[in-house]
Amino acid sequence: MTQRTLVLVKPDGVQRGLTGQILARIEAKGYTLAQLELVTATREILERHYEEHQGKPFFEPLVEFMLSGPVVAAVVEGDRVIEGFRSLAGATEPTTAAPGTIRGDLGRDWGEKVQKNLVHGSDSPESAEREIGIWFS
Ligand code: CMP
Repeated sequence: MTQRTLVLVKPDGVQRGLTGQILARIEAKGYTLAQLELVTATREILERHYEEHQGKPFFEPLVEFMLSGPVVAAVVEGDRVIEGFRSLAGATEPTTAAPGTIRGDLGRDWGEKVQKNLVHGSDSPESAEREIGIWFS
């Protein structure tokens, strides 16, 4: 089943020069980059993107972190790519993400209130379409 998902390389990934490695893993897996851009987010974009997290303790630090530098936004296509990219990304916390995953291999620093975990991937087809509409309108 061909799907598409929204992938973000977060500011920590761009700043650490890991964009190429992260995109290479996506391509090596056989997924296709359908759209790609380097963007500096705005608060409005982030409040829409993270609307389900509004009110949580990590929400404001997360928005500040996501505004701290440019991000790479990509629409990635492939067979079951939503689940597949989340599997490539690994668990939310870099410390406990499995080796072999992007976060497990490359993620290393995070604060108490925000996980600087290198990447974001949509969690369902509905989220993917919603998020693609926010970043590529
Ligand atoms: P992401 O997949 O982009 O979705 C929400 C983000 O919030 C998540 O990655 C992390 O960066 C961050 N996050 C999620 N849960 C927590 C948590 N319990 N503590 C801190 N940050 C979190």
